[in-house]
Amino acid sequence: MNAPGGASGAPEAIHAYHHRTKHHLDRYAAGPAGLDWDAQPEAFRRWSGTRWYGLPRQTTLPDIPWSALDEERPAAPFDLSSLSGLLRLSTAITAWKQYGDSRWALRAHPSSGNLHPTETWVIAYWVEGLADGLYHYQNRDHTLEWRASSLTASDSPGLWLGFTSITWREAWKYGERAFRYCQLDMGHVLAAVACAATLYGWRPRLVDLEHGALARCLGTGRAEDFTGVEAEEPEVIVAIDAPAGGEAPLPPLEWDEWSGVPSLLDPKPMYQWPVIDEVAVATRGALPLAHPGESRGPEAKPPDSGIRRNDIPDSPASQVILRRRSAQAFDGRSLMPLAIFRRILASLLPGGSPVWRMWDGAPRVHPVMLIHRVDGIAPGLYLLARAETALTGLGEALRCEFAWTPADSDLPLYQLVAAQAERTARTISCHQDIAAMSAFTLMFAAEFDAPIAANPAAYRHLHWEAGMLGHCATLEAEAAGWRGTGIGCFFDDADHEVLGLTDSRYQVIYHYAVGMPLEDSRITTLPAYA
Ligand SMILES: Cc1cc2nc3c(=O)[nH]c(=O)nc-3n(C[C@H](O)[C@H](O)[C@H](O)COP(=O)(O)O)c2cc1C
Repeated sequence: MNAPGGASGAPEAIHAYHHRTKHHLDRYAAGPAGLDWDAQPEAFRRWSGTRWYGLPRQTTLPDIPWSALDEERPAAPFDLSSLSGLLRLSTAITAWKQYGDSRWALRAHPSSGNLHPTETWVIAYWVEGLADGLYHYQNRDHTLEWRASSLTASDSPGLWLGFTSITWREAWKYGERAFRYCQLDMGHVLAAVACAATLYGWRPRLVDLEHGALARCLGTGRAEDFTGVEAEEPEVIVAIDAPAGGEAPLPPLEWDEWSGVPSLLDPKPMYQWPVIDEVAVATRGALPLAHPGESRGPEAKPPDSGIRRNDIPDSPASQVILRRRSAQAFDGRSLMPLAIFRRILASLLPGGSPVWRMWDGAPRVHPVMLIHRVDGIAPGLYLLARAETALTGLGEALRCEFAWTPADSDLPLYQLVAAQAERTARTISCHQDIAAMSAFTLMFAAEFDAPIAANPAAYRHLHWEAGMLGHCATLEAEAAGWRGTGIGCFFDDADHEVLGLTDSRYQVIYHYAVGMPLEDSRITTLPAYA
């Protein structure tokens, strides 16, 4: 394990960034004064002047029901077909959408503003049909662009996915707050990878590398390659372990041969937001998610408790993943059946979804929710305690008038206050109707001061955890015929006012609304890879 990283003074820089990028009821965080939609940065980066490999597009995806996602299954071999499927189900395009002259791609994971700052990298050793090396995943065409190779052959098989953020893609639209969105997106990507890998019987694992090693491994530190084009910020590498093969050793940290030239995404950037680079530097560091002696909190009830297996119709997991979309509007009427609501909540608990096997730290992000329309649950403000610390820590930090009345026989759900809260939900979510018309709207309250003081990189990890929670909720809702939408735009301190939070021991870092979607029939859907 590497020591926690981050420059000295990093916690102060992070607090300053977080504070200045809050949206307030009377003022939004600094961003561009206007947007020229025709000048949006290119959504796909291309590496030219190098070899590329087409991944099979017609590969057969695992035929596993959504309700069996969590079950153990034999590991698939590492070959082009399984790698193709892993990418199709995690970071590939899932559809093109068209309205009038506009055409845009959707992917297996959501992204703030559909701007998709996350780039995917593949490191392959002994993957049948593929030369060993580092590849950029070109999701536009479902191809791999060869980037580097090592002169020393590996003596064991290994497959890793690496991730980088091109922060400018988000900053172009959202200005200074964009770094937060990149990190939330990263969390969605990690959860998407976890679900996809599980379907192949693989165990994804976050590799603990300090920033320099990560940058060398993914090539992002090679100034000669990035001169004049947008930089890529390395985020994390995920080892895809095949259980029988044990844990793959570390990915190659040095490569001998490099090739390829990255494309420029925005020839005329109109703004600069230096604070994004500053917070990126301040939050660079190694992983350790868990502190010694930490417990992982209450396990979700096993499937036979009735939470997972009930009369909710089942679909193949790969279909659920590929049809996932964010709702653009909810009907504001449908009452969510209690069984579906409980299944969504169970997936947020450690042990409640295979996603959390990848997360070996204690839960630090706690779902508080404004419930509007769930059958059998009185509208109001509720909290799902993902760990004991939520009860003790949040018990002290939240408004002292809250009732903390147990609200479920199996799940650690507490009613804080009964209330009709649609107007509040809309107001605190930057006046967005989706927060009010949903069945319920989550607010993710993250432990803040303590984890960031212990490891400044925790600022990223907290956002990843929140993004992963959103992803679990959205897939579980999708599987049951409902839908979710991330809400990155919210008034931070208005949230804290609702909750009675008066300091930064906890901060709300993301909202997520779940409800019955209204479809926009004017938008046409086209296949991902024709
Ligand atoms: C971090 C994050 C923040 C988001 N914030 C909002 C938001 O404030 N309002 C909204 O309507 N949608 C929001 N979305 C949803 C995106 O607009 C949506 O994911 C994107 O348009 C792509 O569409 P898709 O999810 O259907 O693929 C957010 C998504 C993410 C991941």
